[in-house]
Amino acid sequence: MSIEAQAWELLEKSILTYQGREIGTIAAKDPEVVALNYDQCFVRDFISSALLFLMRGRTEIVRYFLEETLKLQPKTTQFDSSKPSRGLMPASFKIIAYEGGEYLKADFGDHAIGRVAPADSGLWWIILLRAYTISTQDFSLAHQPDFQEGIRFILELCLVTRFDMYPMVLVPDGASMIDRRMGMYGHPLDIQSLFYGALRASLELLVENDDNQKMIQGIHSRLIPLRRQLRENYWLDPDRLNVIYRYRVEEYGEEALNQFNIYSDSIPFYRLAKWLPEAGGYMAGNLGPSQMDVRFFTLGNLMSIVSALATERQSHKILNLIELRWTDLVGQMPMKLCYPALEDAEWRIVTGADPKNRPWSYHNGGSWPVLLWMLTAAAKKMNRGELAHHAIAVAERRLVEDQFPEYYDGPDGRLIGKEARRYQTWTIAGYLLAKELLAHPEHLQLISFDWEPK
Ligand code: GLC
Repeated sequence: MSIEAQAWELLEKSILTYQGREIGTIAAKDPEVVALNYDQCFVRDFISSALLFLMRGRTEIVRYFLEETLKLQPKTTQFDSSKPSRGLMPASFKIIAYEGGEYLKADFGDHAIGRVAPADSGLWWIILLRAYTISTQDFSLAHQPDFQEGIRFILELCLVTRFDMYPMVLVPDGASMIDRRMGMYGHPLDIQSLFYGALRASLELLVENDDNQKMIQGIHSRLIPLRRQLRENYWLDPDRLNVIYRYRVEEYGEEALNQFNIYSDSIPFYRLAKWLPEAGGYMAGNLGPSQMDVRFFTLGNLMSIVSALATERQSHKILNLIELRWTDLVGQMPMKLCYPALEDAEWRIVTGADPKNRPWSYHNGGSWPVLLWMLTAAAKKMNRGELAHHAIAVAERRLVEDQFPEYYDGPDGRLIGKEARRYQTWTIAGYLLAKELLAHPEHLQLISFDWEPK
């Protein structure tokens, strides 16, 4: 049987049924380890499966998922810290059998390790709703009043009054796919790129009426400053490196160039200058007061190409970097979640000495096959399909034999992750989705955005 046929068989087995209808996919089906919460359907994990189902015309499962997760979203404002806030979408849900029936139990991070709130769930949810709408050409679901309200409530969490002076969205550490402490507190790129995509998707989905008017205005006034901030201040290439290296500090007032008061000594310039090829560039991992995290975060960089947060030129430079630093970023398994890993004292302080996130493992420089589809989408969008072909060929050498692990370890991604689940659904779906995007690039439109908003 071909690798694809085997992967499809496993994906079918991961489908969850709720009240007699297909609703999502289980995170992992590893028979050899305790399930913990991997027996649940995670919103972010389901995106890979959902896009694939849409591309194959299986729209019903995605529709049901969107409808049922919307019902889980809290709708009332209450100042009760023991309850999730209005608008939050769950990280995951579980099907519970009860008195002969079934109900869904959501986890908003209130059960998760470290009690981390999933800021990415709602953003992905909006992006998926747009993909569903494009794929079915049916706007009626997104235009239903409950869906319009659901979008507004998600965006309210990102756009309303808050303690921040920047256009980026402010989130706690571990609020995304990296759901443990990893120095992502503040304005991590991974969230900003999804935020930008979700804002643009919302402009396509929100009907112009009285209920939405304020929200649409809010999106418009956020979109351009957000994009400018990311394209200018997160961007790192050899030219920018030279500018930042010689930044003045302690500048007061509106004319300040070094707006974030970044001190040169906080950035490993010599290592970076050596690593960053002349033709390459990328968006920094995080930016805040006297903080610029220069680690390369893959999801954020790839999604900034897909969502057109990065310019065309920047998008090419990001792909150039991946191509020219292939051994570091792709290695034996596409691809690193972030690069480089935090080591020694930095690992101790930034991760809280988390043994699961020790250097070159899991979120701290581990390699995640699910990222293969994002690499493929970004490469295809920029007409650089050969990068995706190459990465898929690397992944195919190992995935089946290793039983589709959740992640790989080591600076070259050669080891199966120390605590990785096998038969991890988004590994399986991510691989299939990458193949599908290569074979049918027209499906890229489900997830991709044109350069400037219409
Ligand atoms: C881990 C990952 C998270 C994922 C979940 C289910 O918690 O860090 O990103 O959603 O597993 O696969």
